[in-house]
Amino acid sequence: MVKVKVPATSANVGVGFDCLGVALNLYTYFTFEPSDRFQISGCEPRFASEDNLVHTSFQKALAALGKEPMCVHIHIDSHVPVSRGLGSSATCVVGGVVGAYALTNTPIDKEAVLRLCTDIEHHPDNVAPAIFGGLVASYVDETNDVYHVSYPVDPRFTFLACIPDFETKTSDARKVLPEEVSFHTAVSNASKLSLVLKGFEMFDSQLLTVALKDEIHEPYRKKLIHGYEDVKAICLGVESVCFYISGSGSTLMNIMRDASKVATIQQQLTALPNHWTAIPLAVDTQGVQLC
Ligand code: HSE
Repeated sequence: MVKVKVPATSANVGVGFDCLGVALNLYTYFTFEPSDRFQISGCEPRFASEDNLVHTSFQKALAALGKEPMCVHIHIDSHVPVSRGLGSSATCVVGGVVGAYALTNTPIDKEAVLRLCTDIEHHPDNVAPAIFGGLVASYVDETNDVYHVSYPVDPRFTFLACIPDFETKTSDARKVLPEEVSFHTAVSNASKLSLVLKGFEMFDSQLLTVALKDEIHEPYRKKLIHGYEDVKAICLGVESVCFYISGSGSTLMNIMRDASKVATIQQQLTALPNHWTAIPLAVDTQGVQLC
């Protein structure tokens, strides 16, 4: 039997659309045990089938490793909410792939794991930080080579994940994006991205405040998240270095310097519809682990 621990991730981080993501200390645990028939437990009934993403990723990894398909019992113990922009599908993909490596006693080569997970997930911005931990920028070239670079984040930052009771589908959130952006917008976003990376390293809230104003996806997606303006107003009114849509939503992320204000935000969110909860998180620096 093997057990795999995978962190949640927050993709895009404002101006890093489809290329930046950060691993956070909220985890899903996957247990894999050889079995005489397929079994899955711990997940919602709607995901309890052989089509479960953990299982399909596990079998794809076996095939990629040149191994025969294997019957397993998968148990999922997830603290990462589904379809909320916190990388739940990336945890399934990374968990399934690393589970296949571990159950076949294959040494874990994180570069190969990243290539396979990116192939399954179609974009690397969640799976890369889930594998390596920390703040990771990634890029897939025309030949499907995956490049990634890690950047430091000052541990004094708190990532307050404000999570509503509704889901957002990434496919829906991608449909509202424009086909093209102007030259000015592209230059503006790229310029801000380079500043953001330094801001995280230097605990420079001024740099982050200015630089985390995305123009590529947030202006189009915020209308999909009921309560966006109210949650933003609460966070900015209490304590906020910067505020962004986590992944494609529905979680809204508020980065804070002063964690003592978390309780005030949590209390004020209770006045809103949609049962918003706010979980203070720190950066996970380890990425996927066997436990
Ligand atoms: N970069 C992706 C998007 C992340 O924003 O569509 C989805 O989790």
